[in-house]
Amino acid sequence: MTDANLDSQIDEAIAALSLDEKIQLLSGGAFFALAGNDTIGLDPVVLSDGPTGVRGEVVVGGRESCLLPNASLLAQTWNAEALGEVGELLAEEAIDQETHVVLGPTINLHRTPLGGRLFEAFSEDPLLTGLLAAAYVRGLQRRGIGASLKHFLGNESETERTTVNAVMSDQALREVYLAPFQIVLEDANPWTLMAAYNKVNGTPSTEHSALLEGVVKEEWGYDGVVVSDWFATGSCVESVTAGLDLVMPGPVTAWSESLADEVRSGAVAETVVDEHLRRILLLASRVGAFGEKRTWEKGLPAPASEARSTQLINLAARGMVVLKNDSQTLPLTAKGGNIAVIGRHGIDTIAQGGGSAQVRPPHIVSIADGLRAAFGGENVTVTDGVETRMVLPAAPTSRVSHPMTGVPGIRVRVFNDAGVVTHDGHLDVAELEDSRTGWLADAAQIELSARLQVAEPTDLQVGVRGPGRWHVEIAGREEAFEIPFHEGPGGGFFRPRSQAFTMRVNPGDLIVATTKRTELQRIVGIVVAEARRSPAVAISRAVASAAAADTAVVVVGNTPDQETEGQDKSTLALPGHQDALVAAVAGQARRTVVVVNAATPVLMPWANLVDAILFVGLPGQEAGHAVAAALLGDILPEGRLVTTFPQADGEGPAWTTTPVKGDLRYTEGAFVGHRGWYAQGHAPAYWFGHGLGYTTWEYTEPSVIERAGDGAATVVAVTVRNAGDFDGRETVQVYLQPIDEEQPIRLIGWSQVELGPGAEARVEVECDIRLQRHWDSDADAWTSIDAGRIYVGRNLGDVRGTLDLAPRGAFEQSEPSSAVRTI
Ligand code: BGC
Repeated sequence: MTDANLDSQIDEAIAALSLDEKIQLLSGGAFFALAGNDTIGLDPVVLSDGPTGVRGEVVVGGRESCLLPNASLLAQTWNAEALGEVGELLAEEAIDQETHVVLGPTINLHRTPLGGRLFEAFSEDPLLTGLLAAAYVRGLQRRGIGASLKHFLGNESETERTTVNAVMSDQALREVYLAPFQIVLEDANPWTLMAAYNKVNGTPSTEHSALLEGVVKEEWGYDGVVVSDWFATGSCVESVTAGLDLVMPGPVTAWSESLADEVRSGAVAETVVDEHLRRILLLASRVGAFGEKRTWEKGLPAPASEARSTQLINLAARGMVVLKNDSQTLPLTAKGGNIAVIGRHGIDTIAQGGGSAQVRPPHIVSIADGLRAAFGGENVTVTDGVETRMVLPAAPTSRVSHPMTGVPGIRVRVFNDAGVVTHDGHLDVAELEDSRTGWLADAAQIELSARLQVAEPTDLQVGVRGPGRWHVEIAGREEAFEIPFHEGPGGGFFRPRSQAFTMRVNPGDLIVATTKRTELQRIVGIVVAEARRSPAVAISRAVASAAAADTAVVVVGNTPDQETEGQDKSTLALPGHQDALVAAVAGQARRTVVVVNAATPVLMPWANLVDAILFVGLPGQEAGHAVAAALLGDILPEGRLVTTFPQADGEGPAWTTTPVKGDLRYTEGAFVGHRGWYAQGHAPAYWFGHGLGYTTWEYTEPSVIERAGDGAATVVAVTVRNAGDFDGRETVQVYLQPIDEEQPIRLIGWSQVELGPGAEARVEVECDIRLQRHWDSDADAWTSIDAGRIYVGRNLGDVRGTLDLAPRGAFEQSEPSSAVRTI
């Protein structure tokens, strides 16, 4: 359909609707769907959370779908093609679930390493984030599935997240926080943009007309839908006139309640309603829910298929970062002797972060299983480590079964006020979500029960999770718990607390947990976990197994207690006694390789004691296979860090995420991440951009080979030689330090080259002119940066060449580039 035809079809549709019908379409029709309308042939547009998988319409217990590596691990590839592949993969997952829009990517920046939700976002750098996210969006949308760029704006941390006021200078706003949004909008035009919970400089994001209407729609010419984050919209007139187009979730919202009256009283013009609706209909037409309807492609690879497995292993392993590799300890060889895998994360590998990004994968290959498969079970011993989780998750389905049928999962009985059973059902997971409204209608009491699956009498922790006054009975033992509601938005969904006790469980023992039903219960479940052991016992067993092996692979990391939506960290130290475990093993083992299973910086006080460190992120459902492929070098772990790693808590340009009287001041301004570290002249543990791979590189003859009329460097070239004896993929990075030292150094481009041992190539790095300008707050306009020093190298701690950029000419605002950048 031509644009003109579509425009007139949209006009006709709008004209055919009454004011009330139009307003109904500006709020969700359900939790994860827009409203439809038969009169105008509009199907409900279905949404699902992303950004690391397509979860579907419920938070827990939904259908199985692919669990991808987390966003920062994907970003560690520094490879736009890989992110394009991710977008397409997600589009196929969405198509398979008949879902029109995936709520991702998350492009808030890693401002402070404490941010709980950094695992969902790409990087501390606006250019890297913007270019990779644009590739992701193009990948999704070329298959007709809409992206939702989130969270606009200033949602860099989670503390007080619905009320916090992110206070930043105009320079930081323009050059740092708006920059990735601008890049993605210009380069990939995402069909929706999500307004955040927080305020920016005093105004709620959903009411920020200067940003939504002024910058996004007028200045950048955005034609997509601005949707509110879930439950973020508290106002009617203020938000509807500020540029917000759609309120989620629905159907009951601040707009559905009072917008009709506001229009009738003249406080809001009906043309404002029409303009929002126009955008929603354009979105619906883009995704095939209005006008020309889409047919959903069939026969796409299943989440557990070999095709998906190969893709996911490759994506995850490519982003893994070799932080340290003394004496070429890595890659390991398949015939390199016995391996002792040590640590809770080896067995309970963390494949994803916590919160709305969670999906239900078909399986998670643990690192222990991945190494067993790669090295042969007879060559690998596996030893559990110290405790790592603070909050126990719901029981794995392998541990519980329906008491009557024996089918894996739990039995749920719901009772009304009169004590009559109103529902008796089975769940194939060990937790119940309140979106099962049919089950929970008239519920006064909930009973969860299951038989415990153990082969022999075993000491286990058993209990419950989710708020409530619980009564738990198992094999004659009775316990009463009161679990309070975990405050804060999403608290009930994302971090239900748990309580458990340890007891010896016999095969087939029945657990029955009951609670009064309260409105605050979003998720309730049964908990079954390994009995806790003292750190001393765990460490001495680990040391013994390390001493008996040729190589100890110690797997440590964070858990969704640290890396989650809804909560920030307070330290970068690994949870539990993991540091002591690594140090003790390193003291005994012949060779110690540490695998860090975390998405964001952790402190590594033992770094000098070990031979090699591989940072593997949260690698998704194929975690163990990907880690094995990287350790063996079957897939090159040539990832580069996307965030600077501090040496100690408190270091770096920005640290705290705790607002003072509601304000979180971005006092570091535009000096975010490596930009601030560089200005402070303080060396971090590992620089943004760091990553050793398995070979070494030589750089010669750097030069600026092309400049734009305004003076910006547009192409920098350098000769790169693989000087080691292993294949490698080098990521050549180019930074610009403006002559005006008030301006931060910044990444302006990068390029990748894959070379065998001894080979060399001339690498050209395309540099982005959008990073070579400065926001002049007085003039409210961009000015050029046409002079400074260019650094070419592996990262700011390993610069291989410097070039002076002499001033040249005046800068004139250039047209937004629509060119697709490939590397
Ligand atoms: C999150 C969004 C998410 C939405 C829907 C919110 O709590 O901030 O990222 O898309 O919930 O689940």
